[in-house]
Amino acid sequence: MSEQQHRNKSGFETRAIHAGYEPDAATGAVIPPIYATSTYKQDGVGGLRGGYEYSRSANPTRTALEGNIAALEEGERGFAFASGLAAEDTLVRGLCRPGDHVVIPDDAYGGTFRLFDKVEKVWGLEYSPAPVSDLEKVAAAVRPGETKLVWVETPTNPLLNIGDIEALAAIAHDVGALLVVDNTFASPYLQQPLTLGADVVVHSTTKYCGGHSDVVGGAIVVKDLDLAEKVTFHQNAMGAVAGPFDAWLTLRGLKTLALRMERHCDNAERVVDFLTSHPAVGDVIYPGLETHPGHEVAQRQMKRYGGMVSFRVNGGEAQALSVCERTEVFTLGESLGGVESLIEHPGRMTHASVAGTDLEVPADLVRLSVGIETADDLVADLERALG
Ligand SMILES: Cc1ncc(COP(=O)(O)O)c(C=O)c1O
Repeated sequence: MSEQQHRNKSGFETRAIHAGYEPDAATGAVIPPIYATSTYKQDGVGGLRGGYEYSRSANPTRTALEGNIAALEEGERGFAFASGLAAEDTLVRGLCRPGDHVVIPDDAYGGTFRLFDKVEKVWGLEYSPAPVSDLEKVAAAVRPGETKLVWVETPTNPLLNIGDIEALAAIAHDVGALLVVDNTFASPYLQQPLTLGADVVVHSTTKYCGGHSDVVGGAIVVKDLDLAEKVTFHQNAMGAVAGPFDAWLTLRGLKTLALRMERHCDNAERVVDFLTSHPAVGDVIYPGLETHPGHEVAQRQMKRYGGMVSFRVNGGEAQALSVCERTEVFTLGESLGGVESLIEHPGRMTHASVAGTDLEVPADLVRLSVGIETADDLVADLERALG
């Protein structure tokens, strides 16, 4: 089956395994080699083989990953970067100019907030935080003519708020802005924002896409070819690209994304069942719960509800910290989306950079990245840690 057929006709799992790469013409290798090369022999000046000239501009291992993730997100072009933040910075500086304005989630991932607040602002880009789940507030935050991007995460990190992608796209497009969706938490298996009207998807592929906590990476996927050209230019001009080994690991992870996500979701549901009936636990935040304010929208735009669960404990920050320190199967650590379960205290860890701002997260909040271990072991571990 040709690359185009994979993109157009195949199911998600088939695309995850085959899109972006045809078995190597010379050897038949079914997996793309790690092209550890910086440059390429030219057949006469300008005689490039397959367009490869220098590995910042393009590298065949990276090309395979970029084709694969574009097919999974149902976009036209994919781009792989050294990290999620490298992808974000390339996108923002590629599409915005000094004096422009962007809207960001009022509970954005701390690093994304820091990028806008401490890096892009210095270069003259203004931002307004707005809750992604409140369409009226997002509509009030956009500035016709000035807002170039409406940037959302859905679910958000760490409060798992849900934004209605179709409605947010309409708000952005009304003022001539683009809708960017950070799809890291859902992964392309659970949600494809480009099919719902978004213009750009960004990923920290470090998370579910890579899936094994062994690589840091980022991606951008677009459906519009003019936009693709701008990203292509800036990816090369700014140079924050994924190396071939990182691209290879990420591609290997993507092949099993569907299976892993199903198990992440199964286990998260078991953990949520346990937490909702525990006396030491206050709010359990999971979009799969009917009581979650974004449940209906999530049901419409997501296949299932993901592996991330946040909860608040009744004993305040001290208890939240002690739970994080007492689990044994859940490893205390930042990041998410790997096969192993992780626990963290967003206020002191991933979201420390928003402390003291309007984006501060509650001190009694604990965030879980529920892995794919035996569900009974995960529940028993939390039971022990909650005492
Ligand atoms: C939702 C989200 N977006 C972006 C990033 C940044 O990605 P990276 O750490 O790969 O730079 C993260 C990292 O945790 C994240 O959780």
